[in-house]
Amino acid sequence: MNLVKTLFACLSLGSAALAQDAVKVGEFASMTGATATFGVSSHNGTTLAVEEINAGGGLLGKKINLVTEDDQSKAGQPATIVRKLISEDKVIAILGEIASSKSLEAAPIAQQNHVPMISPGSTNQKVTEVGDYIFRVCFIDPFQGAVMAKFAISRGWKRIAVLTDAKQDYSRGLADAFRKYFTAHGGAIVKDQSYSSGDKDFRAELTSVKAGHPDAVFVPGYYTEVGLIARQARQLGIKAPLLGGDGWDSEDLVQVGGEALEGDFFSNHFSTQDKSPAVQTFLAKYRDRFHTEADAMSALGYDSAMVLADAVKRARSMDGALVRDALAATKDYPGVTGRITIDDKRNATKPAVVLTIKDGKFQFVESIAP
Ligand code: PHE
Repeated sequence: MNLVKTLFACLSLGSAALAQDAVKVGEFASMTGATATFGVSSHNGTTLAVEEINAGGGLLGKKINLVTEDDQSKAGQPATIVRKLISEDKVIAILGEIASSKSLEAAPIAQQNHVPMISPGSTNQKVTEVGDYIFRVCFIDPFQGAVMAKFAISRGWKRIAVLTDAKQDYSRGLADAFRKYFTAHGGAIVKDQSYSSGDKDFRAELTSVKAGHPDAVFVPGYYTEVGLIARQARQLGIKAPLLGGDGWDSEDLVQVGGEALEGDFFSNHFSTQDKSPAVQTFLAKYRDRFHTEADAMSALGYDSAMVLADAVKRARSMDGALVRDALAATKDYPGVTGRITIDDKRNATKPAVVLTIKDGKFQFVESIAP
């Protein structure tokens, strides 16, 4: 008996080094295209977490093999990729995406196949409503929209113009949440304009915005368009500050918008100026590994992989249904982006930070709790 056990142990030790003893986790991200910094940052963060998990012995003794697919920031790609990750790679779980419209496209496929999916950064409310296998490690837009509306009110701004990206679920949902809170608390939406991702000329919409004499302009878009909008707004003589959400978080924002963004504000998942050891240790490790600065997507990508590993450990299994149950029971997980507790709608409730742009850098202004 003992001899059999010893032999067996030798065999499994030998095979531990083999690739087939690894477990595959799928990731889909916009590594190229219009929102490339989202994909690259979240992928780096996820990679860092996977390397740490593997260095610590892996998932239930098996090394994680992260299978990453680039959706090129294009609609239509997430569905194809996630089908492939599930049917060909047989991944045990899926991490992704950042942009809400991309997560919304993939989520029904993960749900139908009972493969747990964790979005690092998609904040649109509908994402986790797709089904009980869909989770996220970030807050949602009904909260984020209220945060920026509350912030505007606290600054005494009563007249706001809204400029929405009609092509993005994220932008529409965040604009709705902002309007709802702002008007319920005595504010007025003086102009409501929209554009489409990929547009380059916003002067017609901005001319209308200007005519509304707003105290501030809410632009819940993604960084490339927001940078251009800031430039064109200043060229047209709009002096009111621009306000936005997490979609602004990219080093490319300032590359595109330059000085036009000075003094503007946006909400985000964390601040690199947060002195907590969790944030500072993460920033140092990230700098060491990638020779670049981490942003919110990096931290959320890291947290998404860590929360998965924590759930698998508690489930003591890679079975989809058991991992799902363990994810749903996640409580007070100490993430880089704050404590993560998954609520009954599979979302994480966490504070948001408001940042301002000063000398081309993101500066912490305040933290707003749920
Ligand atoms: N919240 C955005 C969305 O849902 C994506 C995003 C997350 C952007 C984190 C920046 C930082 O589309």
